[in-house]
This record gives sequence, structure tokens and C-alpha cells, in this order.
Amino acid sequence: MGPTWLKDAIFYEIYPQSFQDSNDDGIGDIPGIIERLDYVAGLGCNALWINPCFDSPFMDAGYDVRDYKLVAPRYGTNEDLVRLFDEAHARGMHVLLDLVPGHTSDQHPWFKASAQADPNEYSARYIWTDEALWGMEGRPYIAGMTERAGAYMLNFFASQPALNYGWRDPYKHWMSATDSPEALATREAIKDVMRFWLDLGCDGYRVDMADSLVKGDDERKSATCAIWRDIRAMMDAEYPDAALVSEWSNPDLALCQAGFHMDFYLDHQRNGYNTLVRDWETEGGDHSYFLCDAGGSIRRFLDDYLPRYERSRARGYISFISSNHDTPRLAKTLSVAELKLAFALFLTMPGVPFIYYGDEIGMRYLDLRTKEGGYQRTGSRTPMQWSRAENAGFSGAPADALYLPVDGSEDAPCVEEQLADAGSLLAEVRRLCALRHDWEDLQADAPFAVVNDDETAAPFVYRRGALVLALNPSSQEKCYEGAVLGGRRVIHQIGEAAMRDGRLVMPGQSFAVLA
Ligand code: NOJ
Repeated sequence: MGPTWLKDAIFYEIYPQSFQDSNDDGIGDIPGIIERLDYVAGLGCNALWINPCFDSPFMDAGYDVRDYKLVAPRYGTNEDLVRLFDEAHARGMHVLLDLVPGHTSDQHPWFKASAQADPNEYSARYIWTDEALWGMEGRPYIAGMTERAGAYMLNFFASQPALNYGWRDPYKHWMSATDSPEALATREAIKDVMRFWLDLGCDGYRVDMADSLVKGDDERKSATCAIWRDIRAMMDAEYPDAALVSEWSNPDLALCQAGFHMDFYLDHQRNGYNTLVRDWETEGGDHSYFLCDAGGSIRRFLDDYLPRYERSRARGYISFISSNHDTPRLAKTLSVAELKLAFALFLTMPGVPFIYYGDEIGMRYLDLRTKEGGYQRTGSRTPMQWSRAENAGFSGAPADALYLPVDGSEDAPCVEEQLADAGSLLAEVRRLCALRHDWEDLQADAPFAVVNDDETAAPFVYRRGALVLALNPSSQEKCYEGAVLGGRRVIHQIGEAAMRDGRLVMPGQSFAVLA
């Protein structure tokens, strides 16, 4: 299954722009992350994923890489990043960087060379037609901007040309095969980028748009999966302790076929994760499971999750996320009481969980104008709220010089206050992380099984290994009676869940773990 450290890993996702500014220029940086490592460790997270921190024109917040091997000056230097690896390792933590293999910025030197009229080493690093007038087989492209006669394919925004890993079944003369010298050269170039940071101490990668490599791939992404298997073989041979997590949300492919160690359970409309917390994104009212008395049902989640979990559990880990830099924050629609229960589930499920910075204090989604290609995602990317100090302790720069405004509301949540309050969301998330570390049965590998999913009068009850857990997000008291409870005691609870006369009594909005 890969690196053993994943078994008890809890990740913390850091959007470097917005975590901690150490030099008062208004934007977060790597020395700032180092300053806050003890906070992250204290929360109970023992691994980091850092969104792209490489040189970039920032048309997509750094997902448009201009130099894969250079830390963006606004975040510091390569030496700072190596120091972050060292400081994290000294605390028993691991660090994943963000790998963007499918595209670069159009400012990347590879692309600039590729756009030249004269053939050169990089001419086929990207996907080009050989005429500029007739489009690109119905795919997104740009034409008319380069000296080279041709249209080039896009992978995401207009500034993100697609790298050439080849086509599954090339049918035009300008399409490369996946085993053509030029497609293999792209693959080797990405391996070279991976080795660069792994050699400097990075512990692996979160992989952006992992399914996007081969064009014209089949439904099972066979050709793309073959490339990832090749990359995984390189990792196994050269960096067996390094980990890969895919942005894919398809464990049957990502874990079972492509060989990723972990695959995110992303916010896709109507999938199981979405029904738990963001059902409002679909039509017909918000029936999110964690929204109190909203008519949600755990079954919608289980129907989606369970078969995928069963099929992939021997091959890798499904990663629950609190949210991420692309989604609205959970606090947009969920109260603190609801958030506590959502965290309770996410932090007691199999696989490897990820907490997005600030979700542990219930940071809110702000309605903001787009910044660096964020568009509606911008509101989830605001500065971390550390205290009631100036700029919430994020930066000493003037407020109007900040990367994004801090949440200025009077009751904006902050770390300092919640650390001092045992009833806060932060305190609960810290307790849940500690519990997970204490009990192997709550960690990545212990099996998950449903005990009761009929919530008419009873809570949702599930097992992790030898432990029994129960969740009641409704406002009604619910009880459960069953042989599985025999001789058990409550070892953790939210609300006043208790065993009474052999029955588990769960007040409204409660959670319990029984050993
Ligand atoms: C997914 C990333 O999470 C997102 O932020 C980015 O804009 C796209 N991929 C393109 O790289």
C-alpha cells in the first residue's frame, strides 16, 4: 500500500498566499509556514500539502507554473522550502508539494520555445496542430497568438497550454502516440521535476488533474493510468517512502489502476461527499446530511462511498477533505455544532483525511472579487485568522496591501480565542485528531462497516475495527440497542451521548465513540 507513515497521517492543506506573512509584504510565505508549524502539529496534523509555491505569473494562483524548480520569490527561496522540509521532519511531519503535470503557464520557457516557428527541442512538448485556422477537433485551443503556424491545446485556463503526453489512438498526423519520443520526453521531464524536490527532502506530491494527461483516452483512462503506473514504479524504486495523492475522485481508477496511494473524495455534485455537506449545490433545496433536520440521509452517502471503498481498500486510501481551495468553505452553510459532527465523521473514516487551513476554526466563505484566477473560489482563500491583532495576526502590512482581505466581521473566528475555549470547534478538532492518533482502529487501515443506517429512531452506527461509533446530526434524541454495544463504554463524545441500561442514548446533534 506504500509508505507506512500514511497509516496515521492527518494532512493540513496550506494555501501559501494566505497562511502567515513573515515579512509584512501582505502575502503569506514559507518562513511564515515554518513559524506556524507548531500550531499545525498541536492541532494533530502530522503532514502538510502546500498548494503550488513555484515561480508563476499567477493567472491561476500558481497552478500556472513558469518554473517547476524555483520557489516563487514572493514565498521565499528554494533554501526556505528545504528548511521547511527539515523543520517539518524534525517534528515528525511530512510535506507534500503540488505537482501540476498536465499543463504549464504559457510563460514557461518550454512553451516559449514550443511557440517558435523554427523547430526545436520543445516543439512537441505541447499539443499543436500544424495550421492556425481550423481549430482542434472540438477541444479548447488558442490560435493566432504565436509565430508558429498552428493552434495549441489548453488544459484549463487560456494561459495553461496542455503538455503533450500523447493520444491514446492518434488519428491525425499532428497527434503523438503515448510512446512517441516526444511524449516520452514530456513524461521524463515531469519525473525529473519530481526527483528535484524529492531529492531535496519533499515527501511526495498532490497531483493536479491527474486524469488529464493522455488526450482521447478511453473511459477507463487506460493510457493515462499506464503513465502513472510507470511514474509509481519510479517512485517505488527510488523514493519508496514518498506518497502521491490524486485530484481525481475515482478510486477505481486512481487507486486500483493508476497506482496512487491516496485519492481525494472531491466535491462533485451529487456524489456521497456532496450529500453530506454541500447538497445546496444541487437543485431541490439543501438536504445535506449534516444540516440539522434538513431531511438528509446517510444512505445517499453510503450508496456512493461503500462500493468504491470496498473495491479500492486493498489498493489505497480515499481521502476525505474538510474542503479545499476550490470549494466553498463548509461554514458557508453549516453551524459550529454541525461542523463538529462533520469533522467527527471525516476524522473517523478509513483512508487519509485532509483539513483545509482555517476550517478547523470554522473560517467563513467571503463574497469577494476574483483574485489570481480564483473567481468564485476566492472567498475560500482569505488570510488565516490567528488572533484579534491587526489583520488577524496574518500580516503586519497595511490592510489594503493584503493578498486578500481578512474576515472583518466582529465575530470572525480566530485561533487564539478558540484555543482558550474547550467548547470551540478548534478544541473539538484537536480532540478528534488526538483520538485518531491514539486508536489504531480509527486510522487509515481498520475496516469500516455499517451497523445501522435506519435513522428513523436510531442514530447512524458504524464500526471501525473493534470500535463502535454513532452519529446523530438531527435535533431529535435517538437511541440504539444491539448486541454490538455489549460491555462497551463511551470513550469520546460530542453532546451528552451516554450508555443507559445497555442502550446508547444520543441527544440531538451528538456523536459517540465506544470501545
Ligand atoms: C485543480 C486545482 O485544484 C485548481 O485550483 C486549478 O485551478 C486547476 N486544477 C488547474 O490547474
